[in-house]
Amino acid sequence: MTERMSQRRKILVTSALPYANGSIHLGHLVEYIQTDIWARFQKMRGHECYYVCADDAHGTAIMLKAEQRGITPEELIAQVRAEHEADFGDFLIEFDNYHSTHTDENREMSSLIYNRLRENGHIATREITQAFDPEKNLFLADRYIKGTCPKCKTDDQYGDNCEACGATYAPTDLINPKSAISGATPIEKASTHYFFKLPEFSDFLKEWTRAGHVQDEVANKLGEWLDSGLHEWDISRDAPYFGFEIPDAPGKYFYVWLDAPIGYMASFKNLCQKKEGLEFDAFWKQDSEAELYHFIGKDIVNFHALFWPAMLTSANFRTPTRVCVHGFLTVNGKKMSKSRGTFINARSYLDNLNPEYLRYYFAAKLSSGVDDLDLNLDDFIQRVNSDLVGKVVNIASRCAKFITKGNNGVLSNTVADEALWQQVAGAADSIANHYENREFSKAVREIMALADAANEYIAAKEPWKLSKEPGREQDVLDICSLGINLFRALMVYLKPILPAMAMESEAFLNDNLSWDSELRPLKDHHINKFKPLMQRVEQDKVDAMLEASKEAVAEASTKPITGPLADEPLADEIGFDDFIKVDLRVALITKATHVDGADKLLQLTLDIGGETRNVFSGIKSSYQPEDLEGRLTVMVANLAPRKMRFGLSEGMVLASGDSEGIYLLSPDSGAKPGQRVT
Ligand code: MSP
Ligand code: ZN
Repeated sequence: MTERMSQRRKILVTSALPYANGSIHLGHLVEYIQTDIWARFQKMRGHECYYVCADDAHGTAIMLKAEQRGITPEELIAQVRAEHEADFGDFLIEFDNYHSTHTDENREMSSLIYNRLRENGHIATREITQAFDPEKNLFLADRYIKGTCPKCKTDDQYGDNCEACGATYAPTDLINPKSAISGATPIEKASTHYFFKLPEFSDFLKEWTRAGHVQDEVANKLGEWLDSGLHEWDISRDAPYFGFEIPDAPGKYFYVWLDAPIGYMASFKNLCQKKEGLEFDAFWKQDSEAELYHFIGKDIVNFHALFWPAMLTSANFRTPTRVCVHGFLTVNGKKMSKSRGTFINARSYLDNLNPEYLRYYFAAKLSSGVDDLDLNLDDFIQRVNSDLVGKVVNIASRCAKFITKGNNGVLSNTVADEALWQQVAGAADSIANHYENREFSKAVREIMALADAANEYIAAKEPWKLSKEPGREQDVLDICSLGINLFRALMVYLKPILPAMAMESEAFLNDNLSWDSELRPLKDHHINKFKPLMQRVEQDKVDAMLEASKEAVAEASTKPITGPLADEPLADEIGFDDFIKVDLRVALITKATHVDGADKLLQLTLDIGGETRNVFSGIKSSYQPEDLEGRLTVMVANLAPRKMRFGLSEGMVLASGDSEGIYLLSPDSGAKPGQRVT
């Protein structure tokens, strides 16, 4: 597609709505950064572009998580939303609106669409039989049922597939199935469900998926599903469920995936209420001229490229212009892993590194395809340092002082090398087309090739040498003024990727970096004193981030959150031989202190009868350090030491706990430090 600058387009852009039960991690950020760059690019080109998103707040997982924490789902989703918004803000993701699916706008919109589907005869109801937890009074989705694999007999496998042998089966095939929520044996129970008659849209979808709305590779995948025949889509869930009740069906709720994409509309509707003159219908009515782009990961294609266009069509709304699908993030060539520390939360990154490093690195690797994308941390350091610091910033830092000192900060009024300027300014359309087509890596490659050309020019002209030769002042000024103008053009091109660095460059250049018309060199223009625009990435910061990510996992596992037997089923039976391997000892807490920078940990010094141990324990929420000193407890004394960000933890103290408090175990008085506990 060729990007059009002259005509002002109306564009609505979305990213998938993150679930409101977990933190944003670097995998998510592939998507939000990709979308943000694209939306910023469109705005820079002068188009009327809105980027909206929201938290996806409904479903069983959120209901159970809130229950586990002892708070209401509303409280949970409010907490998570605040965290998400802070993470996105700090990564410079600039939404025009961030909303939630648990809102009036979304409730109204979901009802409206459902009612239209029903009026059009696209809703069916029938009774189905499902696994039911008789203790929790809850229907169990496949992933909430665990049991022994019918094929290879491995224990503790989920209801739909075996992680050990890869077999797929129905939860009813599991040997000795148990509810993963209560441990109870599920029973079969019938209830009425509501279905969206997706098969009626087969012909429409066969055409739609081949009409340029998705990448070819995605269309091929969808083609396989379409050819093997579509099924009616179950859009209802029985109470208890955290979501919207179906208008004409008390006790039945919309399945989270029904109202989630409607959340795109709801967020936009909410924006229309805040923004004078912005009209919902102009973007969503059947024959709208506005463009609609959904950016999503490859795991949720069927929801966006089958169910969603079919629903919109039935409900008499426009369908997406494009569903832009991206691949998954790997770190150092492997799936993100909690134990390797490569499951990196947005916050662990932000605590250590500049968000623009990651924005640049992802941009340098993103294409319009659905291939997975690797964050190789060595390459990350090398690439950011050599491209941004070594190439781009270098141009400005080498030239600036000859203008500030040599000419009071005023650029020359001539262009020293017209051909070089044309080469850089003339690349604007080609770079814009790469952005438009989501070929960010191509855009970056082209920009860096221009940066190389600019650096070669400066290196060949050696203004630092000329400046020492009498009578060459004008040459030095002309060369360095061109250098600054080339830097400016490069920063215009990089602005969608590096908005903060662009802003600082604007202050330095005393100019707006705009890209809504042809680039022209600044002449006789006053610039400000140069300040370093970007620091190098330091290896130790990357190491600290990985350490913090392991820490976040370790910290979570030092805090006991368990419920009574009904909520937390007994672990698998073990023999005495297994038990005796755990060496439990009476321990005297001789010292307890707070740990700088840890929310949940206390540092304990333990005396186990002549030997001293240092242990970090996640009990801070329930104990004052001074109250613990002198107290006896029980510790696992032969646990392998664990390196934490704060130091080495040499064992674990025993405690139980739930959302209301943590209870440290103590022997009766008279027990002596070091005695074995059996
Ligand atoms: N709530 C649904 C989306 C509803 S949209 C109407 C959901 N949420 S999610 O939090 O699991 O994922 C949000 C987006 O992040 C999805 O597009 C998903 O593909 C993407 N990613 C999640 N993990 C990812 C990686 N590891 N790598 C790249 N993208 C990833 O799905
Ligand atoms: Zn198996």
